[in-house]
Amino acid sequence: MRSLSSLSNMKELIESVSKELAADRHEAEMVIASLLGRPRHELHFLDAMSDREQVQILQRVRQLKQGIPIEYLTRKVQFRDHVLAINPGVFIPRLETEQLIEYVRKIPGREPQMILEIGTGCGALTIALAFLFPGARIVATDISEKAIENAQENIVDHALGSRVELVRCDMYGGISGVFDLIVSNPPYIPRDRLGILPPSVKDFEPLEALDGGEQGVEFIEELIEDGQMHLAKDGIMAFEIDDDGTDLLRTFLEDNNIGPYVFRRDLFGRYRYLFIGVDRAKS
Ligand SMILES: C[S@@+](CC[C@H](N)C(=O)[O-])C[C@H]1O[C@@H](n2cnc3c(N)ncnc32)[C@H](O)[C@@H]1O
Repeated sequence: MRSLSSLSNMKELIESVSKELAADRHEAEMVIASLLGRPRHELHFLDAMSDREQVQILQRVRQLKQGIPIEYLTRKVQFRDHVLAINPGVFIPRLETEQLIEYVRKIPGREPQMILEIGTGCGALTIALAFLFPGARIVATDISEKAIENAQENIVDHALGSRVELVRCDMYGGISGVFDLIVSNPPYIPRDRLGILPPSVKDFEPLEALDGGEQGVEFIEELIEDGQMHLAKDGIMAFEIDDDGTDLLRTFLEDNNIGPYVFRRDLFGRYRYLFIGVDRAKS
């Protein structure tokens, strides 16, 4: 890659980044626009970049090449129609978790008044639920201090401090009361699959957000079992899960006489969500 200080204009920068990342011109433009925090069309008016901006872009393109997720560089992530702060060391919200919200939105019946989220990360699910159910109060937990700090930043940015309480604790350890909706996108990757995750995930995202135990269902089973005492009558549990865990979870639910329950699929046709307290016929 040419030294960016020798690049005289945006066209050269785009070409150089495109070559460096082996990406086409449009992708290079999107990367540069994201890194600069500007809309892509503005690049054409930004011919003269400051030395500082050039150096920053150069450093960041090199970090991207090493596999660091772009969200950790821009410190921003889009979740539904919310732009959230995301800090390195905190799990980056995924598209499939947006679909969990869509399924929750479609569950018939009364809107939940009390919601508990276990493992909130940067607060994405909690913020989306707070906007979906404007009358609800939400308790959002995480075991990670970095996650709680990140979620706090987003809760304040979205002016939700009066309705959302953040608690740093392990599972239900710091929780009292009962909830109409208990929701979680927990760590659910089976341990033997952690090693084959893409480098951008396994080298940069926090292990405690990914490691679901030997079979990837242990955490969810504990959430279901211990959550019964925190679930209101007619309350609902909503989880994101790994498709491979479906049979184990079905057996667990049947053995423990927990239900009704329903598994739902993601955009790729894989079972990705589990709802407890939801009748298949009525959802
Ligand atoms: C897959 S991430 C999900 C984050 C966020 N809810 C989302 O959907 O983007 C799982 C989260 O659970 C948290 N976590 C892991 N073990 C936990 C525990 N024992 N108690 C509470 N939270 C935990 C992790 O720190 C991480 O933030």
